Amino acid sequence: MIIQVRNTRLNVEDRGSGPVILLIHGFPLNLEIWRPQIEALSEQNRVIAVDLRGHGLSPATPGPFPMELLADDCAAVLTALGVQEPVVVCGLSMGGYVSFALYRLHPQLFSGLVLAATRAGADSDQAVTNREKAIAGTKQHGAQPVLDNMLNILFAPNTYQSNPELVSKLGDTISITSADGIVSALEGMKVRADSTRILDQIKVPTKIFHGADDQIIPLRESEIIHSGITNSSLQIVPNAGHLLNLEQPEVFNDTVANFLSSI
Ligand code: MLT
Repeated sequence: MIIQVRNTRLNVEDRGSGPVILLIHGFPLNLEIWRPQIEALSEQNRVIAVDLRGHGLSPATPGPFPMELLADDCAAVLTALGVQEPVVVCGLSMGGYVSFALYRLHPQLFSGLVLAATRAGADSDQAVTNREKAIAGTKQHGAQPVLDNMLNILFAPNTYQSNPELVSKLGDTISITSADGIVSALEGMKVRADSTRILDQIKVPTKIFHGADDQIIPLRESEIIHSGITNSSLQIVPNAGHLLNLEQPEVFNDTVANFLSSI
């Protein structure tokens, strides 16, 4: 459903009842990447998944999209849906950057945290340069080059052979991401704050996942998060890349379901 929050409209999915888990997707993705989680976790929990502005069915507003803006959108979604109790926030990759911003701005919203395939640090100089090239390329040629490039690295190398249907389905899922959404998200990620300095302030139970064959973010980044957050555990998921929740949905769902019932 589309809801009006702040100065924009956001597409959200709200399924099930019970303690809430809020799912925040990565770049250049949308809430469809959480389909196996929405189906499985809504049996015991209320699952709220959001299309960040400029992604999926949420229109782009004039950019850039700082992580704090996207985080405040997520907080506003919870308010608009009448959620009053603290929730488990689950962010994948850019969704993890948004989760850190949300924690900095509204720590009282959290009962727990799930981080998948993400990093706490800011962009390196090289990463900024790469983002600037991608921004210029998207302004000139549209969304397709970035979408094609991402589709080639979002999964583990082996997944392209073992599960071509999944790859093709993801291609369809991300094909609706607009050039404006891509540019504004890249501009926001490029200047995001370093969250390593707040890791020791995160006191809620935290579950960290990393695909053993992630081609986008090295495992070392999850190890840094794990060593910074006292009450955290790290699970490395074999036979999975950056989209480990889609590549190994049973492993991810079972672990998150246990984590939710332990809170
Ligand atoms: C993502 O999957 O959200 C992005 O690859 C993260 C990034 O570009 O830093």
